[in-house]
Amino acid sequence: MKKIALITGSKGGIGSAISAKLVAEGYRIIATYFTGNYECALEWFEEQGFTEEQVRLFELDVTNTGECAERLALLLEEEGTIDVVVNNAGITRDGVFKKMSADAWFDVINTNLNSVFNVTQPLFAAMCEKGGGRVINISSVNGIKGQFGQTNYSAAKAGMIGFTKALAYEGARAGVTANVVAPGYTGTPMVEQMKTEVLDSIRSTIPMQRLATPEEIAESVWFLASDAGAYITGETLSVNGGLYMN
Ligand code: CAA
Repeated sequence: MKKIALITGSKGGIGSAISAKLVAEGYRIIATYFTGNYECALEWFEEQGFTEEQVRLFELDVTNTGECAERLALLLEEEGTIDVVVNNAGITRDGVFKKMSADAWFDVINTNLNSVFNVTQPLFAAMCEKGGGRVINISSVNGIKGQFGQTNYSAAKAGMIGFTKALAYEGARAGVTANVVAPGYTGTPMVEQMKTEVLDSIRSTIPMQRLATPEEIAESVWFLASDAGAYITGETLSVNGGLYMN
């Protein structure tokens, strides 16, 4: 039987690559899309050439705790199981802290960090009962090292790492692993929207002197999801071209 992976933010740059990789490896994907964005999600589904057996589009506002609890409980009943959760949904609202609005703070914390609670909690107990599962959280190099103009984003991404280590203890006995993939700067719309001069100056500090490809991030997610990753838990796997070495 196909393993089932739920991926949030699945039609973004990294989310698309993770979806494509896991489909290629024989997984069924539950691809969540933001409330009201069905047309956009369908366009992505068609562009990627997925079938309905491979990918199910699933409307979910990851910032809404009640909706996640309700809809994910239903999803579990319908699908029977969720083997892998990839918390990948994320946004940026960059700006220097002195000028940061409360909205820019809370939007990022809600979408990037509170979503991890909202999405993982309704699925984690079932994984433990079944005796296996994978929680994979997509953090960032900037959650590890901090970044000028990203107090909100760095806080959320660092929070994901603490969450993951704590959850790893709770899942370990049941064979449920929890890990982080921490990408560096990756060739996605999120990074490409940065000012050219800012991105150029960051690129020049990356030892490999280039951005990651989304596919390079997806390979690490697949590794942690696969049987090869069964004994790895509470770990943060950096994929950053040497930008920051722990
Ligand atoms: N360190 C120290 N000082 C810095 C600095 C840095 N890295 N960057 C800028 N400054 C200084 C500037 O020199 C400037 O100083 P003066 O006022 O004395 O001239 C001051 O800080 C203001 O800088 P900006 O002109 O850049 O301010 P701004 O308001 O126009 O822009 C910003 C602020 C949008 C946050 C911009 O600095 C920026 O884009 N920073 C990079 C943020 C970033 O890396 N985002 C990543 C997005 S992608 C992502 O997040 C994915 C992932 O996981 C990696």
